Amino acid sequence: MSKTIYILNGPNLNLLGKRQPDLYGHSTLADVEAACQSVGAEFGLNVKLIQSNHEGQLIDWIHEARNQAAGIVINPAAFTHTSVAILDALNAFDGPVIEVHISNIHKREAFRHHSYVSARADAVIVGCGVHGYSLAVRHLGGLLD
Ligand code: DQA
Repeated sequence: MSKTIYILNGPNLNLLGKRQPDLYGHSTLADVEAACQSVGAEFGLNVKLIQSNHEGQLIDWIHEARNQAAGIVINPAAFTHTSVAILDALNAFDGPVIEVHISNIHKREAFRHHSYVSARADAVIVGCGVHGYSLAVRHLGGLLD
């Protein structure tokens, strides 16, 4: 049976491609999904990419992943820097977790330098643009093989 991975996206990432393209590029979340499906297929992974602007919804999806997903790729967006609740939810998930940021958060404002999620993530990919998602799926594919 093929394994499923969740690719979770936090607030404002529904505007990817339109929002601050100088920072985040011109690709949309649909483009990211297509790229991740294609890499996932190489590893026989079923990829489910979802986005919410609401912290509680992201937490509910992480709980759902406990039964439904073998691994998680997460770009928590601004919740990265604020959410102990998302960290706690990820700590209740047993599989590998890869944290992705499109921009290099360490080159940006000081308040973006700390990530709560990094305390749980097995790997962190920052500053590779949307390509970071494909890299994350490839890495998960290797880990779950
Ligand atoms: C982001 C970086 C965060 O600081 C920011 O709040 C985002 C996107 C990134 O992918 O570079 O919304 O997670």
